[in-house]
Amino acid sequence: MRLSVNKILEMKANNDKITMLTCTDASFAKLLDDEGIDVFLIGDSLGMVIQGFDSTIPVSIDDINYHMECCIRTSKRALILADMPFGTYPDPQIAYENAVFLMQNGASMVKLEGGENVAPIITYLVERGIPVCGHIGLTPQSINLTGSYKIQGKNKDQVDKLIKDGLSIQKAGATMTVLELMPSNVGKQITEKLKIPTIGIGAGKFCDGQVLNLYDMLDVYPEKKPKFAKNFLAGSSSIKDAIKKYVEEVKNGTFPDENYSY
Ligand code: KIV
Repeated sequence: MRLSVNKILEMKANNDKITMLTCTDASFAKLLDDEGIDVFLIGDSLGMVIQGFDSTIPVSIDDINYHMECCIRTSKRALILADMPFGTYPDPQIAYENAVFLMQNGASMVKLEGGENVAPIITYLVERGIPVCGHIGLTPQSINLTGSYKIQGKNKDQVDKLIKDGLSIQKAGATMTVLELMPSNVGKQITEKLKIPTIGIGAGKFCDGQVLNLYDMLDVYPEKKPKFAKNFLAGSSSIKDAIKKYVEEVKNGTFPDENYSY
């Protein structure tokens, strides 16, 4: 049976770190499931690592659905978290229709980027039975506005805004949230202020769980790898071993250390 939303909340309550990795195909889904990854993120970063685009913008809801269905067929335990891609949640009703499509095809939760601005959409989905994961900090779907993937929360105003965003998506009913690319002490402050689990990616060791792109942590793109993406294949005898090491290090809190944090 797959992990439930309640199980994820229980993990936070028990200080049991949540392990998440992106997953896009049946072979890796089996391997990741066998190694006990708690949550598979069918992330829109597949636009870059699977489809060869230079951003997440071109990814469609059908793309997410296709890769999600591949992962579902060969896994039994992981909670399936499906990204809502760019342009699929412009208003509550359209977001609802797109989220229903993913839920009816096997998602256990959907993820959307944004803070206060997406709170009404989150409430609309949650009130209709759809668990939602937030995503604050760096939000890659805004690349055409921001112009670069740069670290967030660098001054007090930015930190206050991140905390406000976290609190508003929590109030809106989000079950958990991703924190992307911010100093470790900012990840810590947000995690301490929120009751819902925080899942960090480049947000330091104090988050309630960690997520990485599978292709980054297997060092498929060494020339593009961000600082936070540890190469777990280095020193491992196999991909399976690398995943095992990731689970161990997230669970025992040794990843991410200061070499992989800001
Ligand atoms: O699509 C993705 O890989 C993500 C992570 C950055 C969390 O959303």
